[in-house]
Amino acid sequence: MNCNEIIAEEKDVIFNTYARYPICISHGAGSRLFSFDGKKYLDLLAGIAVCGLGHANEEIKQAISNQASKLIHVSNLFYTKEQVELAKKLVATTDHLKKVFFCNSGAEANEAAIKLARRYMQKIKNQERYEIITLEESFHGRTYATMSATGQERIKDGFSPLVPGFLHAKINDIEDVKRKVSKNTAAIMIEVVQGEGGVKPLDKKFVQDLYKLCLEEDIIFIVDEIQTGMGRTGKWWAFQHYGVKPHIITSAKALANGLPIGCMMATAEISKGFSLGSHATTFGGGPLVCAAALKVLEIIKRDNLIENARKIGNFALSLLNKLKEENSHLIKEVRGLGLMIGIEIVDDEKAKKIFNALLDNGIIVNLTQQKILRLLPPLIITQQEISYFVDTLAKILKKI
Ligand SMILES: Cc1ncc(COP(=O)(O)O)c(C=O)c1O
Repeated sequence: MNCNEIIAEEKDVIFNTYARYPICISHGAGSRLFSFDGKKYLDLLAGIAVCGLGHANEEIKQAISNQASKLIHVSNLFYTKEQVELAKKLVATTDHLKKVFFCNSGAEANEAAIKLARRYMQKIKNQERYEIITLEESFHGRTYATMSATGQERIKDGFSPLVPGFLHAKINDIEDVKRKVSKNTAAIMIEVVQGEGGVKPLDKKFVQDLYKLCLEEDIIFIVDEIQTGMGRTGKWWAFQHYGVKPHIITSAKALANGLPIGCMMATAEISKGFSLGSHATTFGGGPLVCAAALKVLEIIKRDNLIENARKIGNFALSLLNKLKEENSHLIKEVRGLGLMIGIEIVDDEKAKKIFNALLDNGIIVNLTQQKILRLLPPLIITQQEISYFVDTLAKILKKI
């Protein structure tokens, strides 16, 4: 099939839920993607913060291939070395989280966190606390509980009734959170940098106040690190910039550089909320994805990619802020942390034009909330590649 045929036939056989870019991708290499017609793209999206090590990484390919030739799946009825080794490496990225539950996606990781928080309250604390406070404009997934947790109405349109017990507070407004806390509050769940909601790093003081509130009121503090995690923001986890110690964090996306995996990590105390048979998944933590994730962690450490994310992220932010000064009629704000960057354009129409022009010029970014250009490049991105992007963007802005 050629690309035109694929696009035409996709409409007939695939649910109409995705607004796709009009490109058929054939392969990738590092931070490049190649379309069917041989056009080369600079990939500043990395499969939505997934391919942190870029595409077609040789060592990841080897790790997957070696594992595939031994054992792909066996179920959680057995022990496997890969799962335990990965869990040990993951808890070592924090100094306080001790246990891991593996699953297959971000939504499932958050679903597990929600279930654990409620069950801990009911079974360990003997309290009927079930409410979970999340933030407006947050995004936590598309399953029923995680959609109910999400603070964006458009995501929930047509799906009522939702899972009860979720309240949404205003971002950076501790008083609004306090108004929503009651004797029923089990947990507060946040992204410390809201991703899909428009790349919004929360105020440090707000996050610290939330944490303090959780400690005072015996509320479980959950940080969704699905988009921010695995080094993207310049630390293993974004919460580590904020001087807080969440009781639960969730991860997925970049964990295995593209193979589907998710995980929830919790403190020793909160992990008591799950007991034998209380939660499970057939595929979660299978040896294939764990072998890939082990290699991802090894490469991130060995190649100092977290430091690269911090350095290149700062470099990108400084160039983009300069561009904003020169183009304040088009760029409203530039914000981000590490390699999670949002460029807010003054209106939706201009944002769409800029997005399309970038694509025409062989640069892939994402457009979120209609007017925010979101950059989630691979952690291996170079200064030259960022400079090329900013130069191209500058040329495009001149023509808008
Ligand atoms: C912060 C956050 N949480 C949860 C999810 C859901 O993850 P998944 O799409 O793997 O279910 C996403 C996905 O974009 C996300 O960015």
